[in-house]
Amino acid sequence: FNIPDIKNEPIKSYMPGSPERIELKKMLNDLRSVELELPMIIGGKEVTTDHRVRISPPHDHKHTLGYYYQGDASHVQMAIDTAMLARDKWNSMSWHHRAAIFLKAADLFAGPYRAKINAATMLGQSKNAFQAEIDAACEMADFFRYGVRCMTDIYKMQPESAPTTWNYNEFRSLEGFIFALTPFNFTSIAGNLPAAPAMMGNVVVWKPSKTAVYSAAVIMEVLMEAGLPDGVINLVYVGGPTAADVIFQSPDFGGIHFTGSTGVFQGMWKTIGENIQKYKSYPRIVGETGGKDFIFADPTADPQAVAIAMLRGAFEYQGQKCSAASRAYIPRSIWDDVCTRFGNELATVKMGPPEDFTNFINAVIDESSFDKLAGFIEQAKKDADAEVLFGGKCDKSVGYFIEPTVILAKKPDYITMVEELFGPVLTIFVYEDEDLDLTLKILDKTSIYALTGAIFSQDRYNIERITKRLENAAGNFYINDKPTGATVGQQPFGGARGSGTNDKAGSIFNFLRWTSIRTIKENF
Ligand code: SER
Repeated sequence: FNIPDIKNEPIKSYMPGSPERIELKKMLNDLRSVELELPMIIGGKEVTTDHRVRISPPHDHKHTLGYYYQGDASHVQMAIDTAMLARDKWNSMSWHHRAAIFLKAADLFAGPYRAKINAATMLGQSKNAFQAEIDAACEMADFFRYGVRCMTDIYKMQPESAPTTWNYNEFRSLEGFIFALTPFNFTSIAGNLPAAPAMMGNVVVWKPSKTAVYSAAVIMEVLMEAGLPDGVINLVYVGGPTAADVIFQSPDFGGIHFTGSTGVFQGMWKTIGENIQKYKSYPRIVGETGGKDFIFADPTADPQAVAIAMLRGAFEYQGQKCSAASRAYIPRSIWDDVCTRFGNELATVKMGPPEDFTNFINAVIDESSFDKLAGFIEQAKKDADAEVLFGGKCDKSVGYFIEPTVILAKKPDYITMVEELFGPVLTIFVYEDEDLDLTLKILDKTSIYALTGAIFSQDRYNIERITKRLENAAGNFYINDKPTGATVGQQPFGGARGSGTNDKAGSIFNFLRWTSIRTIKENF
């Protein structure tokens, strides 16, 4: 069970003049100069249809990156049938060989494909170079490498045996196929959701977000180059309802690995429940859904640390991380200091296309997201219970640009303190110092979510007390750090309540969901 030494992929700096920057710039130019045709990949074969959909960078409507071929219900069925045909062979392949494919894929992402996967993420999802690097190259490689460690740690878990008997666990794959439904905001999550079940011997039907097809195609290219056998992961570009109609009617449906909205997840769970008697086994339902992630400072908090955490936690990747800080609670006694420091930092932030590496903020993902965010911002400008403190400009003429926006809420249950917005909007509530306990209670109650949260304090007594008090408010809880940027192998990621099944992405807890154990006892 010894596997190569696993470490987090080092993050490259992309400093001006660095070889990685030169290579990435060239790749961006190369990708911008062609219009790619992206077919679905079913059973290792390219599948086209007569319905081509244009892909354009969210920050540049005029440019065409390429076209993907949109499928229909028949393609979903084809993907299921193909996956089930591939299942026996894949399932019976020894784990070393499955592991080797994903270790090789990790090396390809970290090496020869690093520039391509980063550039595809920057252009297709409007992510700056640093955010693409920590996601598409590094976290992807980490997911695959630590995934292999999770597999091997699981296979080592064996029961005791008594004299004259031998007991052992056989880690079978699930009996059907897994449906991986992946989001736009992290290319690495799009890679991990199909890959984790596949590593454990499962076959997969993968439907990426329609706003991240461009990077999904590169992930598939790398997996195939790494030697993934045909039919193990089948990539289909179809609408969500179309996929769901076919997937959840199939007796071979074995589980879902999902990251996306709470509403979609709950809808699918209901449909799965309605069809439960159709399936051979109870399907595994693993999902990471919404968040309304918080920063809470106490009066002893370091104002500069709070200001930086708010800036990075709320605005990196335009706040489109499920972990992004979107509400902050700051005590009156330090508010002026925090606000000045925060304003000074925010003034240094530039917005524009990611091809210009000096831009920290790029565009939000699509028009519906833009319209939703602009709507909340316009409402806040008019509401007596809110004040737009910084930013607030929204312009979709060239791309979907929303300035990093800070709303000061006069009530702790103001709508943007409660609703998930998924964009560069942070709402701050300034509480009176003597109301600290009441504010913690409100923080815990105002949201249905419990994904990430951060507290800032230099008082060890308060750190312990607040950490206990907010026991159920977040699955990933940070003390004196921003609530984003969980690292695979270091902070298993996931939340409970309306935020998901808390199966901790990138960890053994997640991998255990993709196996169905047979325990064998033999008498001698
Ligand atoms: N893992 C990411 C983060 O922690 C979110 O999915 O920011």
